[in-house]
Amino acid sequence: MTTDNRVALVTGAARGIGLAIAQRLSRDGLAVALADLDQDALDRAAATIDGPVATIRLDVTDRAAVIDAVARTEADLGGFDVMINNAGIAQVQPIADITEAEMDRIHAVNVKGVLWGIQAAAAQFKAKGRTGKIVSAASIAAHEGYAMLGAYCGTKFAVRALTQVAAKEFAAQGITVNAYCPGVVGTDMWTQIDARFAEVTGAKVGETFDAFVGGIALGRSQTAEDVARLVSYLASPDSDYMTGQCVIMDGGLVYR
Ligand code: NAI
Repeated sequence: MTTDNRVALVTGAARGIGLAIAQRLSRDGLAVALADLDQDALDRAAATIDGPVATIRLDVTDRAAVIDAVARTEADLGGFDVMINNAGIAQVQPIADITEAEMDRIHAVNVKGVLWGIQAAAAQFKAKGRTGKIVSAASIAAHEGYAMLGAYCGTKFAVRALTQVAAKEFAAQGITVNAYCPGVVGTDMWTQIDARFAEVTGAKVGETFDAFVGGIALGRSQTAEDVARLVSYLASPDSDYMTGQCVIMDGGLVYR
């Protein structure tokens, strides 16, 4: 294992894409703090990591808790250089039926959670006189609207906007701010999306997932490890000249 003495905090790291990112950054030589709502799953996730690791029970909708998580990362792992705002939830509902409570919930996790992460990370980098990297989960749904995914697309377009604005505001501090836009990754999230499509539209279970995958030029769904390869780059010095970008990596589904 190489070590580069840097430290990353990954939110939503107990499973899926977040866990794959944490595993990959650890293999890249970074110490990793895994944060999530679910402590049992966090403990199982941490057991899969060979290098220096910490776990933090965190609800990213809670601004003070996100600030605290950054401070704990620094205290537990001896630094803080990379913030990965990965935590997110999906929601399947026709525009006509989205309730205020549903909109508030998805906005709290996907938009406020990312905003608090950007704020907390930038403040910590500034306090310690360091540069740093902030990388957030957007989606192909940040570039194109999909029927039944109105609330979700709205939040991911917002992540794209926050990424561009934060990139400009923090550039003088030497902080880069980028986002990754995966396509169709077969995690628990997609199992839920597919089941909910079946409920709302009468599609068969598996049909919506297969239809999305059918549009992918490379002919297969994406693995969480595929996404982690992109995030590894966005978190590394190799991407130092890139900021404000929401990078699509989807096997050829959305072209921008
Ligand atoms: P997932 O549902 O498999 O895992 C998400 C993790 O985030 C879970 O461990 C969950 O406990 C945690 N989480 C949820 N709300 C939280 C909160 N308030 N505070 C802290 N942790 C919280 O999701 P997946 O598929 O791994 O997605 C990760 C990110 O990638 C999300 O932001 C998602 O929108 C995005 N994405 C996923 C795609 C996919 O096809 N699965 C495609 C494009 C983007």
